[in-house]
Amino acid sequence: KIGVIAKRSGFRAYLVGGIVRDIVMKRKNLDIDIIVEGDAIELVKKYAKENNYRYYYFEEFMTAQVTLPSGLKIDFATARKEIYEYPGAYPKVRKASIKEDLYRRDFTINTLAIEITEDNFGTLIDFFNGLRDIKDKVIRILHQLSFIEDPVRILRAVRFAGRFGFKIGKMTERLLKLAVDENLLLVAPTGRVNTELSYSFNEEKATEIIYLMNRYKILHQLIPEFVFDDKREEVINRLRDMIVTFEIFFGHKVDRVANYLLALMYHLPLDISYQFLERYHFSNGKQLFKLFFSVKGRFRKIPEKNSELYMIIKNIKKDVLVFLCSYLPAEISERIIYILKKEEERKLLITGNDLKELGLKPSPLFKEILDEIFLKYLDGEIKNRR
Ligand code: CTP
Repeated sequence: KIGVIAKRSGFRAYLVGGIVRDIVMKRKNLDIDIIVEGDAIELVKKYAKENNYRYYYFEEFMTAQVTLPSGLKIDFATARKEIYEYPGAYPKVRKASIKEDLYRRDFTINTLAIEITEDNFGTLIDFFNGLRDIKDKVIRILHQLSFIEDPVRILRAVRFAGRFGFKIGKMTERLLKLAVDENLLLVAPTGRVNTELSYSFNEEKATEIIYLMNRYKILHQLIPEFVFDDKREEVINRLRDMIVTFEIFFGHKVDRVANYLLALMYHLPLDISYQFLERYHFSNGKQLFKLFFSVKGRFRKIPEKNSELYMIIKNIKKDVLVFLCSYLPAEISERIIYILKKEEERKLLITGNDLKELGLKPSPLFKEILDEIFLKYLDGEIKNRR
């Protein structure tokens, strides 16, 4: 449909970006981006009006968005080139050809397009060898100035490399290292650094991405006195597993961003971590840091009895427990997980109704009785027959 209107208007339209890469790689992606050679806003107005779809447009950016009745959103942009006034700046835009539009992008694997204009529908367009690089599993920039124009691409390079298990091309790697050495990340807009780091920590392959950030000294640049020692590596690996454990066993949606940040900064005094979190707009994460530091001392001496360990962790928030279980010695975190699992089963053990059926009159004592039973259960003094 879009292709028909494009043809009629004398425009050409292309599906571009991550979705084309992911179609080629057979991965799921629902972000539909369309580039229009001509005028995206004019095309969207016609397309949306003919179909009675909702739409928005931004004259200044030459972009528009249509929302289909299913809720699916399609982004449109007029093919453009971008002019960066200084490294990391939000760029100025001018109309251009599809080739120029694709040339301004970060990596070759992101430059594939599929034409959807009616008379050439379905043709794959590959000006910059994106297909070859997907096949060779390599991340490559398109031109020498790429990281200088946009230092945030340093973070994107390791994110894509980690996500797909790709390597970073030789020349690209050299330029990336140079860009890091030149401290370019420190002049990038902090909001964009926040976005990229957040994406990275939410990726399934977050740990791989962190290793790459370490290898390329990106973390050393962003975080004061960063050290990647065996302890940190262990914490990060265990954190990855703990996130899965807490999400699957305990149905708790883990704040991955705050947890990974803490895994990278637990060595720092709280006020230095806070400075980082504020600078990069992660102030929400402060709470996890604060809580971790406030309870960490409780684990200097670990009690023998599970019921006593339970009293220590009872009021600690799940996100803090996620981190504690990654940070404390493995045998303690195993005991904590054991206790949390038992706590999940607690309802199946005995409830106030059971006490009523035993002929007891409901009273505030019930809670104390049930608590006492649970503690004995934790220590194995009572078995669950259900
Ligand atoms: N892009 C770029 N430089 C950036 C950010 C984005 O060149 N600093 C380009 C990329 O080529 C990308 C497109 O803009 O394909 C859209 O960006 P984004 O939605 O962030 O990338 P996706 O490839 O869709 O990434 P993801 O799979 O993580 O959604």
